[in-house]
Amino acid sequence: MAAAGDKVDHIFKVVLIGDSAVGKSQILARFARNEFSLDSKATIGVEFQTRTLVIQHKSVKAQIWDTAGQERYRAVTSAYYRGALGAMLVYDITRRQSFDHIPRWLEELRSHADKNLVIMLVGNKADLVDQRSVSTDDATEFAQKEGLFFLETSALEATNIDSAFTTVLTEIFHIVSKKTLAAESQPNGSVVGGGVALSGKKIVVPGPGQEIPKGRACCSTS
Ligand code: GTP
Ligand code: MG
Repeated sequence: MAAAGDKVDHIFKVVLIGDSAVGKSQILARFARNEFSLDSKATIGVEFQTRTLVIQHKSVKAQIWDTAGQERYRAVTSAYYRGALGAMLVYDITRRQSFDHIPRWLEELRSHADKNLVIMLVGNKADLVDQRSVSTDDATEFAQKEGLFFLETSALEATNIDSAFTTVLTEIFHIVSKKTLAAESQPNGSVVGGGVALSGKKIVVPGPGQEIPKGRACCSTS
């Protein structure tokens, strides 16, 4: 894992979606802090956590967003999906209904998110073997049909949580790297340091703690 203060090469936003109580928040807690709680409360609104990993010698900050499965507690949908490069579509292997709702979640995802979005179908609570009501075969078949990655996980036992995120983040990494390469081979695109340099006016975006010089604020009319 990269140490705090290291430079970050990429920030990838990944969203968690799925019915209430399938374990989205605990999957996030396990991935971001290696924690788990059995008396997890339903999420209200939206929150995100980050973890920085190294993928192919580059430092990648994963910014994982979590919202409520319950409609009345959900964040504004378009804002939640904006800029997301990956999604974890989560159901509970012991609750058939949460799997039957997956096509609806997928539809919402595809109507709001980027077309290159990397999607992982996640069957959580795989530790509850005696209560299983969704077979691995059914889920595998669905994932293949829809072109999704698929893994069964347990946030409780920390099974496949890291693999699920690493798979999605690595795939995003490949897509983003290919885009950079494509931009580099464009005849008109001048490239500096791996990014595309746009010609035109230099725009200075002040960082935190930096003041915008007086009289040069972006939108003053004087
Ligand atoms: P909303 O925020 O309402 O959308 O729910 P959620 O999807 O975030 O569910 P949450 O993470 O709060 O988990 C719901 C319940 O399932 C909690 O009691 C968790 O402890 C439990 N849970 C989560 N993951 C697992 C798991 O892998 N195995 C088992 N046995 N229980 C889990
Ligand atoms: Mg939650």
